[in-house]
Amino acid sequence: MDRYAVIGNPISHSQSPFIHGRFAEQTGQDISYERLLAPLDDFAGTLDSFRQEGGKGCNITVPFKTEALALAGQLTERAELAGAVNTLQLLPDGRWLGDNTDGAGLVLDLKRLAVPLSGARILLLGAGGAARGALGPLLAEGPAELVVANRTRARADELAARFSSLGNIVSAPLDAPGRAFDVIINSTSASLQGERLTLEAGVCHSETRVYDMMYGRDETVFMGWARAQGLRYRYDGLGMLVGQAAESFYLWRGVRPEIMPVLTALRAKLE
Ligand code: ATR
Repeated sequence: MDRYAVIGNPISHSQSPFIHGRFAEQTGQDISYERLLAPLDDFAGTLDSFRQEGGKGCNITVPFKTEALALAGQLTERAELAGAVNTLQLLPDGRWLGDNTDGAGLVLDLKRLAVPLSGARILLLGAGGAARGALGPLLAEGPAELVVANRTRARADELAARFSSLGNIVSAPLDAPGRAFDVIINSTSASLQGERLTLEAGVCHSETRVYDMMYGRDETVFMGWARAQGLRYRYDGLGMLVGQAAESFYLWRGVRPEIMPVLTALRAKLE
């Protein structure tokens, strides 16, 4: 039985063992998947012990995604672009291949929800790690325009410059994108602090799709904002969580699991 894990700190809240357990059942893959708590100052040691104990692959979560990038002996192009690794796969030569499936998981979920991306005007709120991971896969869908808006404008400028060769991407201050968008994606951590983003009402039209990378049992602050705007297409990030896991599972096992039944089960479990 091949061994997999999710490594983070904290880790007890992680739903990844549940998700991958369901994927394995569904596809008949004989694997185990566990949570591993790494000390904040010894991610490398935890990863190495895991490898010595037969670990074949793992997911990496907060706060080790940048360290995982540095420890990977080889990187996929999307991990390099994202500047972070959320998935490691053991290579035959004993090195780790570092991948990033977060952005692909987001796009997979947006497609499941029939959110139009090709030719769409997209507003991405936030310019941190989560935004950076999403940009490559979003631009690959060929939007008409992608605006990155951030509280600290310089970080949005930096991202727009870094990704400019991949599509029509520009930066803006958070409170002044200046036009209506077809899709608005929140990648900021403002919801975590229960803070509201200050967005002008003009950023949406009646059919705007709003997606929050955050999720929770209760409505996120951002979803509450979208509801208050009268928007009916509102989605939280639970599907992205399952989507990124599905991409990792595919990398490790070469089999694509079905997302919907696992998402339904996970939603029920969290309620
Ligand atoms: P992550 O890896 O989750 O993206 P991060 O790199 O710390 O985390 O980035 C957090 C993002 O949320 C940033 O874009 C941050 O804006 P700043 O660059 O200005 O710090 C954004 N953010 C966090 N709290 C916010 C708030 N209350 N209002 C607006 N933006 C916020």
